[in-house]
Amino acid sequence: MTAELTFTATRSDAPLPDADREAVLADPGFGSTFTDHMALATWTKGEGWHDGQVRAFGPLQLSPAAAVLHYAQEVFEGMKAYRHEDGSVWTFRPDRNAARMARSCERLALPVLPEEDFVGAIRALVQADEPWVPAYGTGETSLYLRPFMFASEAFLGVRPANEVTFSVIASPAGAYFSGGLKPVNLWVSQDYARAGEGGTGAAKCGGNYASSLAGQLEGQAQGCDQAVFLDSSTHTYIEELGGMNLFFVTKDGRLRTPALTGSILEGVTRDSILELAPDLGLTPEESRIEIDWWKEGVASGEITEVFACGTAAVVTPVGELRWAGGSAPSTGGEGGGEMTRTIRQSLLDIQYGVAEDTRGWMT
Ligand code: COI
Repeated sequence: MTAELTFTATRSDAPLPDADREAVLADPGFGSTFTDHMALATWTKGEGWHDGQVRAFGPLQLSPAAAVLHYAQEVFEGMKAYRHEDGSVWTFRPDRNAARMARSCERLALPVLPEEDFVGAIRALVQADEPWVPAYGTGETSLYLRPFMFASEAFLGVRPANEVTFSVIASPAGAYFSGGLKPVNLWVSQDYARAGEGGTGAAKCGGNYASSLAGQLEGQAQGCDQAVFLDSSTHTYIEELGGMNLFFVTKDGRLRTPALTGSILEGVTRDSILELAPDLGLTPEESRIEIDWWKEGVASGEITEVFACGTAAVVTPVGELRWAGGSAPSTGGEGGGEMTRTIRQSLLDIQYGVAEDTRGWMT
């Protein structure tokens, strides 16, 4: 698909004063403060994409009848912009996010945004908000980018919307989990599934995240941080956490992750780790993984490390696994296992320009 949009920029007439912005950047947290600008574009049936712009960040005018509010016709992406030592700003595999958004759009009956326009919107917004990209060497900080698309047509009939809005917002980010590199404890969600066969599990759409919340709350009531979801038909196989994919390091040097069955999100971080694994002496393996293998594998010593991954959280060690009636202890110790930390650092080194980008992942 060829580009359809030009993102014309109008500067915000009330940007956050430099000192206030620097105060935010000194302790950005995750997802609670936003930059001065946002990118926007509109699609209308028959006309295609138009009105690409970057303008001051602010509320959107939306009819209460907008279809997204009723039927959840919406998709989103998550990516980051990193500052390198020479001051330049880079994104990680944006083509992957553009391609995944296109697949999500097809599943949610939304119009596909050409890759060039997706990347063009990111580029235009990062240029406008360049001072918001945290300085190099300030820990694991970045500018988190959130492209999203939704049915903005005011219409209550159930059909694909004839008017759609695409936007990108940006938020300076520190670590996703406020506890730092502390292992997260997981609850096995037996009663709640996140996605089912033929459903939207592989698409990055808001509904998947909404459906993960009850399981997450149940897990929190059991003293866990997150829930792990199983396949919805047999409740036997491990799928994902709702916001992150899972990996297991085994005693015999395999790096196992649940195969993409259609109900698991195709994580860009997941894919990158699978590609990096052989360089780190691990044999990557995508397969159906039974929850019982995890429950027993920790005790038998077959599983040496477990970690979760995603754009926001990068690589996060997994601690204890709990389920109704039992638990399996943490594997890797307080800061995560050695391989977990090595994989995490390998990714971060590429993203922050410390290691050579031999795969052409940075843009
Ligand atoms: C991401 O890792 O970017 C995600 O989309 C997960 C979550 C913050 C929704």
